[in-house]
Amino acid sequence: MSETLERWGSKRAFILAVTGAAVGLGNIWRFPYIAGENGGAAFLLVYIAFVLLLGLPVMMAEILIGRAGRRGPMQSLGTLAAEAGASPHWRWLGAFGAFTVFCILSFYSVVSGWSIEFLVASINGQFTGASAEQVGAGFNAFLANPWLLVFNHSLFLFMTMTVVAAGVAKGLEKLNNLLMPLLYLLLLLLAGYAATTEGFGPALAWLFTPNLAAITPEVVLHALGHAFFTLAVGACALMAYGAYMPEEQSLPKAAAAVAVLDISVALLAGIAIFSVVFAQGLDPAEGPGLMFVTLPIAFSHIPWGALWLSIFFLLLLLATWTSAINLAEPMVATLQGLGWGRGLSAAAVGLSVWLLGLLSALSFSVLADFRPLLGRNVFELVSSIPPDIFLPLGGLLIAIFAAWVMPQPAAASALGVGEGRFRLWRGVVRWISIPLTFVVLLSALL
Ligand code: PFF
Ligand code: NA
Repeated sequence: MSETLERWGSKRAFILAVTGAAVGLGNIWRFPYIAGENGGAAFLLVYIAFVLLLGLPVMMAEILIGRAGRRGPMQSLGTLAAEAGASPHWRWLGAFGAFTVFCILSFYSVVSGWSIEFLVASINGQFTGASAEQVGAGFNAFLANPWLLVFNHSLFLFMTMTVVAAGVAKGLEKLNNLLMPLLYLLLLLLAGYAATTEGFGPALAWLFTPNLAAITPEVVLHALGHAFFTLAVGACALMAYGAYMPEEQSLPKAAAAVAVLDISVALLAGIAIFSVVFAQGLDPAEGPGLMFVTLPIAFSHIPWGALWLSIFFLLLLLATWTSAINLAEPMVATLQGLGWGRGLSAAAVGLSVWLLGLLSALSFSVLADFRPLLGRNVFELVSSIPPDIFLPLGGLLIAIFAAWVMPQPAAASALGVGEGRFRLWRGVVRWISIPLTFVVLLSALL
């Protein structure tokens, strides 16, 4: 495959595309529930530190490789490794990334399916006047219905693969970029509303006053995984985007803008959700249902709540849709690179992700007790191991490649900064990001 001459139309377009991949379920669904299960402020502190010290520098490394290679991930890694006189096996890192996104997309699609169900329910006004118990019971009844979960998972995956097969992702991204500010505004509004409720004070205290003793190895591992997950780093998915980056754009500035936006969306969602948790006496460690139970309650107390809630789920769905497309694209591109047609590639990826997702969808009912590994069912496995282990491992290898294997001139010009700043970035990656990721991963595996 030869070097691509195609470029994003503008610097803004690149930032928006990466933001589309980054902002999704990770911010609004996964962050609050993982923070809830890991002690709140203790988790938040480590997570933000990891985003800044690991996620952000490695995101630059990942995009830099794509920008220097100007090809799909496997081909970029292979070409750059050859140029550096390194092993051609580096290209398998691209395949590992494809396997990681395969696992992630399977549960991402199931949970996005929950958003479809909740969108329909809120349009029908099903949450109007509902109490916390009713919303909670309704959610559990929904999870226990295998057909509904499978139906919504299938629908979401079909929506995703159709866009990928038709190659109209750019069009959807434009729509996403148009509507994303609205999602942000809605979260701001919700956080503002939360400030008027009695749960707000306890929520802030719980999120922002860390008890250092609560920082356990487990909290640290989850913070590591989520830092990579939320930024969409470690699976070579952003590497593919780097290939289209304009020559004159500063990569560090773009990456920093995305990280700030991504963290702020998570914080707004967290403030809104935990205010409800504390106002209603719910359990912060409620698990994957946290967002789906709390937000309908919050909106049911606001004038025009059903309308706002419907708009919220619609926008959330749009955000997860663009993230899912970013998850699917590298796999489809890889098959295409092997000579498959685009439609066939999309169908094959869709079918295999659907099958694995089926096991996740059924993990809440018929397969609840099918626990093949570590005492976890399939949903618990695919929603923890790939984000917590595969993404950091991929990120580690990506960082090693960019900061140790690639020759300095190639890496520096792809980063798009001068000598001094390049050395700063490389120093951080070499002496902080790589050792820190390595140590946390190792301690998790031992
Ligand atoms: N960053 C996305 C989110 O926060 O929802 C999830 C994600 C997308 C993870 C793409 C990994 C990836 F390659
Ligand atoms: Na995110």
